Amino acid sequence: MLEKLNEIEKAALESLAAIADEAALEAWRVANVGRSSPVMSVFSQMGALSKEERPLVGQRANQVKLALEAAFAEKQSALKQAALQQSLASERLDISLPGRPLRAGGLHPATQNLRRILAILAEMGFQVYTSREVESDEYNFQLLNIPPYHPAREMQDTFYIDTGASDEAERQVLRTHTSPGQIRAMRQFSAENPENPPEIRIALPGMVYRFEQITARSEVQFNQVEGLVVGKNITFGDLKGTLAEFVRRMFGRGAKTRFRASYFPFTEPSAEMDVECFVCGGKGCGVCKKSGWLEILGCGMVHPVVLQNGGYDPQKYTGFAFGMGPERQLMLRHKIEDIRYIWGNDLRFLEQFG
Ligand code: PHE
Repeated sequence: MLEKLNEIEKAALESLAAIADEAALEAWRVANVGRSSPVMSVFSQMGALSKEERPLVGQRANQVKLALEAAFAEKQSALKQAALQQSLASERLDISLPGRPLRAGGLHPATQNLRRILAILAEMGFQVYTSREVESDEYNFQLLNIPPYHPAREMQDTFYIDTGASDEAERQVLRTHTSPGQIRAMRQFSAENPENPPEIRIALPGMVYRFEQITARSEVQFNQVEGLVVGKNITFGDLKGTLAEFVRRMFGRGAKTRFRASYFPFTEPSAEMDVECFVCGGKGCGVCKKSGWLEILGCGMVHPVVLQNGGYDPQKYTGFAFGMGPERQLMLRHKIEDIRYIWGNDLRFLEQFG
């Protein structure tokens, strides 16, 4: 019997040594230390043994059972350790690798530029006033001193909206410029105090629309930034000083400007302002068409009729207004040759402006 136990132990340990996975190990456990294993069957055969043999065989059988259980536990932890080592090796994480950068979005160059203009105007005391994009003919033209059939209407080809309105003044248009906001603002402020309306210094930014053939030089939509200053004793000198200072803040201290007489129905006198070409420094190049100057805005003293229409008495108040095209300035600054890039949504273009 003792001989048999030695064999059982030897055979079990040998087969255990060859085991390499957990399923085989479990099968080994059932076969070698389970209820119907050879060691356990020795216990059930003890009754047939002599009194002298019984304690010796019992003790030895216990030893074998404990030895096999210990060997099982040892093998089990060795297999677990091996599995852990393997997964550590195969799922290796290199925490010293640099992270993958997130692709963050950015502001559209036209938005960046518009915000810069408004920030400069804000420093100069201009508050932002936003006004509607769909306007009546009355506000877009008539109250700005442009009656029906006035030739100045041809300066701006208009998108009319079909609302069935029979009255000319009620006809709806997509605003062709931000100037109707002048009337809206003046009417709002003068309504608050009709006897003594407050002074005004506002910037009116926003999209405007013109019914034009889209080419490299003209688009059907673009932004404008309008400025309006109304007060007592506002002069053309204030207009010139304010706009020259704006240009210096926008394009640099050394930027030179000049005014040319012009015509707008809603300002009198009217002017256009040029800035010295920042591409060639005034020598003359392709961008400034050899003139050395770039036109950047229209301006003038608010026409008495317009002040009146806004509820400001032209005997007591004067003012100046200006209107500029931020996208045009952006194109000049970055030598963008085709205006269609601006709203073309081509990432190759947009990404250059970070
Ligand atoms: N509204 C004019 C335009 O769109 C610009 C302008 C604004 C001129 C204010 C004078 C004063 O061309």
